Amino acid sequence: MQRIFSGIQPSGIPQLGNYLGAIRNWVNLQADHECVFCLVDMHAITVWQDPQKLHEQTLAQTAILLASGIDAQKHILFNQSAVSAHARLAWIFNCVSRLGWLNRMTQFKDKAGKDRENHSSGLYVYPNLMAADIMAYKATRVPVGEDQKQHLELANDIAQKFNHDYGVEFFPQVEALIPPAAARVMSLRDGTRKMSKSDPSAQSRIEMTDDADTIALKIRRAKTDSEVLPDTFDALEGRPEARNLVTIYAALADISVNDVLARHQGEGFGPFKQALSDVVISAIDPIAKETQRLLQDKAHLVSVLRSGAERAQAIAEPVVTEAEKIVGFVK
Ligand code: TYM
Repeated sequence: MQRIFSGIQPSGIPQLGNYLGAIRNWVNLQADHECVFCLVDMHAITVWQDPQKLHEQTLAQTAILLASGIDAQKHILFNQSAVSAHARLAWIFNCVSRLGWLNRMTQFKDKAGKDRENHSSGLYVYPNLMAADIMAYKATRVPVGEDQKQHLELANDIAQKFNHDYGVEFFPQVEALIPPAAARVMSLRDGTRKMSKSDPSAQSRIEMTDDADTIALKIRRAKTDSEVLPDTFDALEGRPEARNLVTIYAALADISVNDVLARHQGEGFGPFKQALSDVVISAIDPIAKETQRLLQDKAHLVSVLRSGAERAQAIAEPVVTEAEKIVGFVK
């Protein structure tokens, strides 16, 4: 059975893009993989996080993942900082990875923008820690949204260079599992920007804890154009907001984008948004309600993470100890 590793930053409440790009795929992959899912709190602090909020968001994300269908008994769910092997391997990878490789990372360029000098060094070496997350488990498959593809290519480069430099066949190559539909969900306010849990505008995203009224309102207010829906997806070229809403509908209803248009062609956005709201609410509302229930028992959520960390540690510790021996550290 192949081992899956994937992670999500507890830097906010997960949004619909996280769900469609990653979480839903994680849930499905549990049937035939050994899965390790991680709340990457060390990645989160590469940009400033209010400590109390980080703590609360980590527990809220645990609840959301359980409510979405992650089975924390059969599989592993934990927070990154609880397993020190991640930080140790990340340091080794800081010394394997090249500055030139990091300079090419588009996510760093997007996040740092023009004010590069004022960002943390952690943000810059973020992809090395991400490679360590995966390689500490020798995971071979990593389900992510499209925005993480470049980081996974870097993880493979680091693994290959480690193996080459030390003359070993130690770390495997990983395969990115990117969902065929909705691999990149866009903002509800701007169809050219990615939907993100850290966008300053909460109107730009559907959060996994939004109730039905909030979802309906956000969709009603979503930016659109004044044209009607055509009969094929190709005809939506140049209409990013419309493409995004049709894509979300298709992914959640589990039908093709052209099937969505076959149902709604000729409609304006008033009726289409109503239909879309129904589809989004029927997917998200049960998860939001179950999340609220799970959040009543914080001690249980902490114990889920603790048990996950113990089991994660049992896998990662021998791998990272071996990597340290390969490097020449006295153990
Ligand atoms: P994060 O927290 O930004 O996002 C978690 C997952 O959600 C996906 N995603 C999206 N998919 C589609 N449309 C969107 N708008 C959208 N926004 C986010 C992301 O691709 C991701 O799969 N660096 C990672 C976390 C990480 C990780 C890892 C992932 C740390 N270590 C090791 C895999 C393996 C991140 O910031 O995800």
